[in-house]
Amino acid sequence: MLVSLVGMPGGGKSTVGRQLARQLAVPFVDTDHVIEERIGGSIRDYFAQHGEVAFRDLEAQVIDELTHDGTGVLATGGGAVLREANRHALHDRSTVVYLRSSAEEVYRRLRHDTQRPLLQVPDPLRKLRDLHRERDPLYRRTAHFVIETGRPSVPALVGMVLMQL
Ligand code: S3P
Repeated sequence: MLVSLVGMPGGGKSTVGRQLARQLAVPFVDTDHVIEERIGGSIRDYFAQHGEVAFRDLEAQVIDELTHDGTGVLATGGGAVLREANRHALHDRSTVVYLRSSAEEVYRRLRHDTQRPLLQVPDPLRKLRDLHRERDPLYRRTAHFVIETGRPSVPALVGMVLMQL
């Protein structure tokens, strides 16, 4: 069984995903890490050198590969749902959980982050609000169920996912 986590950057996909995989005793894979291994560098530098479209192409390829006969827990990048092919691959080939967080919540977590290229803008909170507005319907459409991340601890979130599987 493959479980995929989608949601905003800083919404806890990697943290929850790692613990969920441990509980299920299955491998944990983070698409961003696979991409960084493949390009031999950071996503931030790749964005700067090759642009977002090249990154999205690579991301789509990795998602396609990882969702084929996969077993485990897959944490996706926050923009994975932007492409229809990714939404279909994730929805049709895995159980998708949307870890739903508000723009304000992820801003609190990410305000000192320098690694996420999309947030290297003068007003990151505004950017996060725009991303949230644009993506929330896409995350919902891709997911089989939604879990609000606002209050519960990480172990509680893991428990909530496990109950839904
Ligand atoms: C992105 C989110 C990042 C990473 C890339 C683009 C996005 O992943 O894939 O920087 O478009 O929201 P996280 O959601 O793990 O931060």
